[in-house]
Amino acid sequence: MTTDKPYLTGHYTPVADEVTATELTVEGTLPPELTGRLLRNGHNPKPGATPTHWFKGSGMVHGIRLREGRAEWYRNRWVHTPALDGAPYMTDRGPDLTASTAGTHIIEHAGRLLALCEANLPFELTPQLDTVGAFDFEGKLRTAMTAHPKEDPLTGELHFFGSSPFPPYLMYYVADAKGEIVHSAEIPGATAALKHDFAITRHHVVFVEGNVTFDPADHSGIPYSWSDAQPARIGVMPRGKDGAGSVRWFSIEPGNMLHVSNAYEDGQGRIVLEGPTVDHEGFQLSWNWWIGAPGRGTEPVSRSYTRRWVVDTAAGSVDEQIIDDLPVEFPTLNEQYLGLENRYQYAISFPDEKGFGGYSLVKYDRTTGARRIHQVGDARMPSEAVFVPAAGATREDDGYLLTVISDLKQDASQLLVLDACGLDRIATVHLPHRVSAGLHGSWIPDGAGD
Ligand SMILES: [Fe+2]
Repeated sequence: MTTDKPYLTGHYTPVADEVTATELTVEGTLPPELTGRLLRNGHNPKPGATPTHWFKGSGMVHGIRLREGRAEWYRNRWVHTPALDGAPYMTDRGPDLTASTAGTHIIEHAGRLLALCEANLPFELTPQLDTVGAFDFEGKLRTAMTAHPKEDPLTGELHFFGSSPFPPYLMYYVADAKGEIVHSAEIPGATAALKHDFAITRHHVVFVEGNVTFDPADHSGIPYSWSDAQPARIGVMPRGKDGAGSVRWFSIEPGNMLHVSNAYEDGQGRIVLEGPTVDHEGFQLSWNWWIGAPGRGTEPVSRSYTRRWVVDTAAGSVDEQIIDDLPVEFPTLNEQYLGLENRYQYAISFPDEKGFGGYSLVKYDRTTGARRIHQVGDARMPSEAVFVPAAGATREDDGYLLTVISDLKQDASQLLVLDACGLDRIATVHLPHRVSAGLHGSWIPDGAGD
């Protein structure tokens, strides 16, 4: 295919076929406790399709099944939604929430595998990655659902939101550990600003609105653009059924945060929130890459530096700073610490906006300030590093990082299993074809979603 679209070339060249392979070759030793499935989603248009925006490409899930030291299978499947067959999102009756790429993330909750895209309903998949269909929580979800819900490690609840360019701009939901929506509320004061991710802490829900907002004059296919007139804000809401009435919005510096690293309440009850964030220039370089326009950066994320906000709700103030000089995205952590103070943070670093530097896995020690880097090699790009705790772990970083490598020189891919403590490679699983660079994924241990 000849194209000037960066999201259809290089590491992002779509996979053309759905395949199944069994008994994959393993180098090193796969820990037997890694028994389950690594699932990774991403935009992968069908052959011949040229979406106008990276995020409009159809979703494809890649799955790698590990069992007691063996790599039992690999399979990749498009999420078979109406949009895969051409159904339009906008109809005479408004948006069709089932016309989804379902290509952003895949999670498991209450035994269900859900492929997610923020403008749509989730799509349920079988453990073998076949599509069951749109899932609306027994009719209780009537809006879109974020691709970044948060499962509370202490309660098993799934917290999520649905955002829209039209009122209600922001709905908040809680599904209990059994997967039933037990609470929903419209959030006062929200606007049409793009909201890709959010956070929960022990006692609060944290929403983020940046300077990127709905723009009907934008014709990229996803009508959003940067606006200096759109105030950047953090919304802090007490958890619980009556919280929406008490949400407070705090002004922050201009920017657009795509992903939350984590949030928690510190010893003084302040809300600490961190996440890679772009400034105006970084957003424009990134957006132009996402739509394949001139003036784009060399990477899908440019000038993406981690910011930390400390919100003092009692004083009504926000302290904000950039805390690292590496351009990173895809922050992950041991999700047993989601919403709690975490010592360790993981991310993928990208070449800077001039193309210098490479792709690597980064581990931060937030206590000492140390940063450890695992280089993946020339022409190789890692996917989001998914943390899996070791059996009987006693330390936060006692576990494994799982990442899928796109290797352009070898036109091949491997699953790397790293020791999350030292970032040393423990095992490599060779996959039957190159997996295109994608977005988010999850480890589904056996017993969840089977
Ligand atoms: Fe995302």
